Amino acid sequence: MVKSLQGKSIILGITGGIAAYKAAALTSKLTQKGAKVHVIMTASAKQFITELTLQSLSKQRVFSDTFQERDPSSISHIDLADSADLVLIAPATANIIAKMAHGLADDMLSTTLLAVTAPIMVAPAMNVHMYQHPAVISNMDTLYKRGVQFIEPGEGQLACGYVGKGRLEEPETIVKVVENFFVRQQEKESGPLTGKKIVITAGGTVERIDPVRYISNDSSGKMGFALARAARAMGAEVTLIAARTDEAPPLDPAIHLVRVESAQDMYEAVMDRWTDCDIMVKAAAVADYRPRQSSESKIKKSGDTLTLELVKTTDILESLGKNKDKQFLIGFAAETGNAEFYARDKLIRKNLDLVVANDVTLEGAGFGTDTNIVKVYDIEGLVLDLPLASKDEVARQVLRLAADRVAGALL
Ligand code: PMT
Repeated sequence: MVKSLQGKSIILGITGGIAAYKAAALTSKLTQKGAKVHVIMTASAKQFITELTLQSLSKQRVFSDTFQERDPSSISHIDLADSADLVLIAPATANIIAKMAHGLADDMLSTTLLAVTAPIMVAPAMNVHMYQHPAVISNMDTLYKRGVQFIEPGEGQLACGYVGKGRLEEPETIVKVVENFFVRQQEKESGPLTGKKIVITAGGTVERIDPVRYISNDSSGKMGFALARAARAMGAEVTLIAARTDEAPPLDPAIHLVRVESAQDMYEAVMDRWTDCDIMVKAAAVADYRPRQSSESKIKKSGDTLTLELVKTTDILESLGKNKDKQFLIGFAAETGNAEFYARDKLIRKNLDLVVANDVTLEGAGFGTDTNIVKVYDIEGLVLDLPLASKDEVARQVLRLAADRVAGALL
């Protein structure tokens, strides 16, 4: 039977907390699942558990001293870093979290962490007050934004006597998280969009009236972000072009984020990537009109009325449709009535391959919600009718449709 972690090389960083004793079970379970576990211990970790225990369980040499180079032909921390598929720090103390956040490298583990390009998972374990300390929270936030994944500590009786959050997650659970990580990674490597370059637009454009005022719309970015996550999970190389959004964009370092403000900025960002892209999804709500002039300084109050003259923006989707080559082009249509009629009109007029119509007057559909209700059309007619579903699910189904068609076109 193939073991779930067969062929995976995992660096297990063990730092100095009482939970270090659980690292023995973790090492054993990861090894039994087929992983090659390279343990790196800090000096403090060795106060809690011996190298010999971990060496016996992992059947590998255990590292703790940066300068104890036994093989003159290699540099251990670089070799280890290069060979890793995943780095797991369990238990992770407040100290290693701070060192990682600030890029310190004063021992074997922290030095290796700077040399690593593989994904990093951190399972913190500490006293509840330490876990809630603003410095620790801020350091974890820094790492999270850098793409580090956290395995949150559990709640319960802590070694220090307190009851609360800070207990290292159980080894069985950590192993499950690691297994899931590799399953997801496998999907990305062999998913239906693997090898495809996809560009997704999200959010609402901002058309400046003056430095402090603008015209925009209610798009939160949720639909576009869901599409970016789904595309990545299906293996695509994702570029996310996001205008103003309420939500934080996905934190996957593999999703290339480009921030823009106005319809014109979005036009330029999209056009720059058009030739090289396989699938373009335009989920952004782009302004149809912008102020003819944008004042360089704040417009002062004067008179009872103020007239703003608006001029048309470039229709990005229409421009793409006119210059379509191999690309698969998906547009969205946000409608408040006659959704099918207007969506199909856009499909034809803008030369789209698919149009996703959402009637934004329906409860649970359109702007700002976590759900959507969509009907998807191609030139023949309705191809997908999705009643209320999460935006993640809508994204998956729309992209599946695109993936099937792109694959079919290549046959
Ligand atoms: O961001 P959320 O809060 O999650 O909300 C999701 C959404 C409602 C914004 C999304 O589902 C949606 O419908 N996006 C398209 C909104 C829109 O601008 O629709 P439209 O019918 O005005 O435009 C049709 C298409 O042309 C869209 O793909 C749009 O990106 C594109 N367009 C429009 C104008 C313009 N100047 N250039 C464009 O490319």
